[in-house]
Amino acid sequence: MTRPLREFVHAFGLLLDGRPDEPQLLAQGSALLRTLVARDDWLPEAFAQPHPEHYRQYLLHADSTERFSVVSFVWGPGQATPVHDHTVWGLIGMLRGSEYSQGYVERDGAWVPDGEAVLLAPGGVEAVSPRIGDVHRVRNAHDDRVSISIHVYGANIGAVRRHTYPPEGGRRPFVSGYSNTVLPNLWDRSAELRSTAA
Ligand SMILES: [Fe+2]
Repeated sequence: MTRPLREFVHAFGLLLDGRPDEPQLLAQGSALLRTLVARDDWLPEAFAQPHPEHYRQYLLHADSTERFSVVSFVWGPGQATPVHDHTVWGLIGMLRGSEYSQGYVERDGAWVPDGEAVLLAPGGVEAVSPRIGDVHRVRNAHDDRVSISIHVYGANIGAVRRHTYPPEGGRRPFVSGYSNTVLPNLWDRSAELRSTAA
């Protein structure tokens, strides 16, 4: 049941073919992601498995020229990221459960929380980028169950050199990688073809 994801990556590629500026990309990309996370019946189980100790990030699709990637983030109860940046635009859509995103800003050489954390509820979408705010910390809003969000980034995000921002100050190099070595097969459309007359 990977059709919604296949249709999403197809539409996202067409959106980028039009070379939108970042505000257009984030607006139109958010609409596409909102449609994808409006239903929770397409993510294969293998890419929805939590780890007991830390969050997992499963690559679902990478564009052939690495213009974008789609990742499922699976949060066990209470799990959180370090404070981190992305260096490219990103969209976050809530598929299952809820998460908090706490933005950070640099003041006097230190990264400090910027206002209240934003709660992302199922079906909700938010954006990050160096232009609109790129440093945040994300955590599962639930201490008793798994949450899953679907992320889209303007690069092959697992292979991007970026940073974490430890509480003691400064920043550390960070390349996230992925939790999986195999990807979901989005491209077997044979069932659709067999079900319709030639
Ligand atoms: Fe992030």
